[in-house]
Amino acid sequence: MPVEIIQKNGLISPHGGELINRVAEGAEREKLLQQAGEFQSLTISNWSISDLELLAIGGFSPLTGFMGKADYERVLTEMRLANGLVWSIPISLPVADEVAAKLKIGSSVALKGTDGIIYGILHLEEKYHYDKLLEAEKVFRTTDEAHPGVKKIFDQGDVYLSGPVTLLNRPSHQPFEKYYKDPAETRQLFIDLGWQTIVGFQTRNPVHRAHEYIQKSALEIVDGLMLNPLVGETKSDDISAQIRMESYEVILEKYYPSERVCLVIYPAAMRYAGPREAIMHALVRKNYGCTHFIVGRDHAGVGDFYGTYDAQKIFDIFEKNEIGIEILKFEHSFFCKKCGNMGTSKTCPHSKEDHVHLSGTKVREMLRSGVKPPAEFSRPEVAEVLIRGMKMGK
Ligand code: ADX
Repeated sequence: MPVEIIQKNGLISPHGGELINRVAEGAEREKLLQQAGEFQSLTISNWSISDLELLAIGGFSPLTGFMGKADYERVLTEMRLANGLVWSIPISLPVADEVAAKLKIGSSVALKGTDGIIYGILHLEEKYHYDKLLEAEKVFRTTDEAHPGVKKIFDQGDVYLSGPVTLLNRPSHQPFEKYYKDPAETRQLFIDLGWQTIVGFQTRNPVHRAHEYIQKSALEIVDGLMLNPLVGETKSDDISAQIRMESYEVILEKYYPSERVCLVIYPAAMRYAGPREAIMHALVRKNYGCTHFIVGRDHAGVGDFYGTYDAQKIFDIFEKNEIGIEILKFEHSFFCKKCGNMGTSKTCPHSKEDHVHLSGTKVREMLRSGVKPPAEFSRPEVAEVLIRGMKMGK
């Protein structure tokens, strides 16, 4: 077993040692819901609702709420929380100055969605201004507003609120509810299935052959695969979560061993922070109970903002036991016509001309005109789902 910290039940320890649970249940929830009706309320974005949920269900363990200034600053400069634990991306709650001014430190604030539902409570400990340029530069390695993460920082409020949260209502994840499991549930699932080593796979795209290749290569050395497509907010030109999930449904049915794979949604928003997001993705999957995590080419990247393997190299900054989960790094994968199979530059001796390579733009063009990309690039069942998605404008 490569990972160092194993719990008595055989599972990997959550980040920081304890799986955070700040979900109110039963009578306590009823009481808090009633009280929350009297609290000052704050309407927050779907993005922040998703952060609230992941904080409360332990996906972001050891965080118990939106980050205070000390954590925030050290995360920016050193990729560590104030207590020294590795953490790479701020989890913060932005509001406008005039909104922050009305909220009292020490009070409880009801957090409402744009649908009017009270999803949780923020126990307000701190409000602080932050430097948007600095955050962009540190987290995204750029201040260019063409980067969707940078744009988001510049568009949001100037003050961060912080403090522990309590979740009162879980957001709906329809139509994917049957694939929803929180970290406590996936951990139990792994015990029930008898899996001791589990590889987690992050994705925000429909599954293609290179994904399948690296997932199955990983599955050769572990007990189980947790496919964990992100279904929170993504940039507008990414293919919709519904189509992505459908692509997994059709491929799982025909090409994967059902007893060794589980499909679970990851209800987070996509940051496009490349290397820093790869670290966060890995730590979160550790919290879900995975012992291994796949980082391939340009993980969580966007445009040309990151080098192909930056998201792999960043792990070298830390000691292995600080990350805890084993990172499986894969090179750019492709189908080679001469080999007659999938491979990478590590396994294929042939030249680029022998490799099936299609740009994203080319694939979209084909799909839009109802043409399936070659089977070496995308399984025909997946291509059908994508063509249908394109027709529906998804
Ligand atoms: S991501 O933004 O979620 O990283 P995507 O869904 O495309 O995007 O990728 C999911 C995972 O597969 C990431 O670890 C990524 O690095 C990896 N990956 C995607 N395409 C390839 C490829 N052709 N070769 C190797 N790894 C890949």
